[in-house]
This record gives sequence, structure tokens and C-alpha cells, in this order.
Amino acid sequence: MACQSSDELKVLVEEARTCAKSGKVADYIPALGKANPDDLSIAIYYPDGRCVSAGDVEKKFTLQSVSKVISLALVLMDRGPDYVFEHVGMEPTGEPFNSIGKLETTAPSKPLNPMINSGALVVTHMIKGDTVEERLQRLLSFIQEMASHTKIGYNEEIARSEFKTAHLNRALCYFLKQHNILDEDVEQLIDLYTKQCAIEMNCLDLARIGMVFAMDGRDPLSGKQIMPVDVARICKTFMVTCGMYNESGEFAIKIGIPAKSGVSGGIMGAVPGRFGIGIFGPALGEKGNSVAGMRLLELLSKNYQLSMF
Ligand code: DON
Repeated sequence: MACQSSDELKVLVEEARTCAKSGKVADYIPALGKANPDDLSIAIYYPDGRCVSAGDVEKKFTLQSVSKVISLALVLMDRGPDYVFEHVGMEPTGEPFNSIGKLETTAPSKPLNPMINSGALVVTHMIKGDTVEERLQRLLSFIQEMASHTKIGYNEEIARSEFKTAHLNRALCYFLKQHNILDEDVEQLIDLYTKQCAIEMNCLDLARIGMVFAMDGRDPLSGKQIMPVDVARICKTFMVTCGMYNESGEFAIKIGIPAKSGVSGGIMGAVPGRFGIGIFGPALGEKGNSVAGMRLLELLSKNYQLSMF
């Protein structure tokens, strides 16, 4: 079913786009610096296959931290929650997404949650498979199934650009290795992690994945339970408590939807039992979340009373 462009959504997009001016595209991963800060698009995907959109929803972007929720779901299925939470915590942190500070001041120094970089690196480390290629392929197949789109792959230029510059993430890995939380070759893990973050799709794909989370891990269109209900529940809980890092509290109050952001400007939302949302708006605020994307979600949540609370 084709996605219907919506005049109602277009009005909200134009209002939210004015916020993009206050943001900046991420350039610590050099290849992301080429994005157009004024871009803003949204797709909403319903369980019956209907889809409504505004903006250029076919434009591709990389998942970056949005991938962290999906790798978490895969690892929870691979290893079970007890094993996973022996290695990564469940608590939000008031620190930025790439902070190393809390690792030094908590004992044992396991990352506080799977949404910050240190926690996500531990999660990626736990993806099963014998080689980086096999582990990436397992993650890609899982994503392709949720999006119902077999062509989803990763952007090699962006993966390479991050691989060359991921010094802070390497530092996090070495710290975790020193404390026996990781036991993998750091270059190998950074290779897999940067490819995971560079998985590329458009807003329609992202909204469809959000819809699967919203529907408790079941794809209502194929009838398949893609992940156990409990795995979807854990992921959505992290999206609420940690999905926007140290902006998660404000996000819960103003918007109240399980959502996950990435530094490319993507946001995936999952409105429980109702629909999935995919947003792309690359101008970021100080905490690394899409400014216009957050504003758009706020307008949407207020106009249609989407808050869970
Ligand atoms: O590891 C990084 O820094 C990036 N690949 C992902 C960070 C990110 O998307 C943070 N989100 N807003």
C-alpha cells in the first residue's frame, strides 16, 4: 500500500521546521556533516498497513543510535534478559550519550543502560555469530523482516568515516575490556558497531519498525511474532527512560511516547497498540537529538493526545 501524503502532517512539519535553525548537523562523524539541516520528514505506519507522511520520506539516512534498540532486541533474543543485564544496567543517566565518567564512578563499572554508547557497545559485543559479517547479517535480516524490506543495508562511506574517527568509542571499549565487561578485539567490535550505526533506511522503513515495537513485537500484516512480547516491552521501556539520553525526562513530560533518536537526525517512535513513527531531521540540539524532530513529536502528541501518561 502506498504512503499517503497528509496535509495535516504537512502543517505540523512546517511549524516544527522553524526550530531546525537553532540546531546543527553532527560533524564528529565527518560524513554526517554533509546533511541538509533544513530537512524534515515524517511517516506514520498503522498496523493495518496504512501509512501517512509529510516531507521527503524516501530520503535515506543512517540509524546511528536508533540501531541500539534493535540490537538490544536481537541480543535479548540471543542471550535472554538475565545474561544481558549481567553486562549492562537498566538505569537512566543524566550524562551525555558518549560519556565515560559514570563508568569510573560506578562499581562494577558496567554501563548504566544499553542506550548510551558504552552500553550499546556491550550489546553489540553480545550479538551472536562467528564473524563480523555474520553478526551484521543477522542484525540486518532482523531489521529487514521488521521493515518488510529486504534491500536494507548499510552505508559504507558513513561506516568508514565513523570507524576512522571513533576514538572516544574505542576508549570506552578499552575501559570496559580492562574491567572484564568486554573480551573482544576492540578494532573488530568498532568495525561491527560502526556498520550497525550506518544501517541505512528511510522514514517509511523506520515507521514500520516502530509499528512492530508498538504492536508488542508482532507484525500484524504477516501475522508473525518477530520478537517475544517481553523483549518488545523491555525495549519500549528503555525508549521511555533512556531513549533521548539526558533529555529523556523532558521528553517524557512533553511528549510521552517511547522513542529513540540518533545523531543522523532520525527518531523512531512506537505509540503502544496504535502506530509507528519515523522522523528524519538532521539539525541536532545540544544533547544530540533532532530539534525539529522533537518539536514535531511534541506537536503530534499534543494535537492527537498521544502521551502514555
Ligand atoms: O557512537 C556514536 O557516537 C554514533 N555512532 C551514534 C551516537 C548517536 O546516534 C547518539 N544519538 N543521538
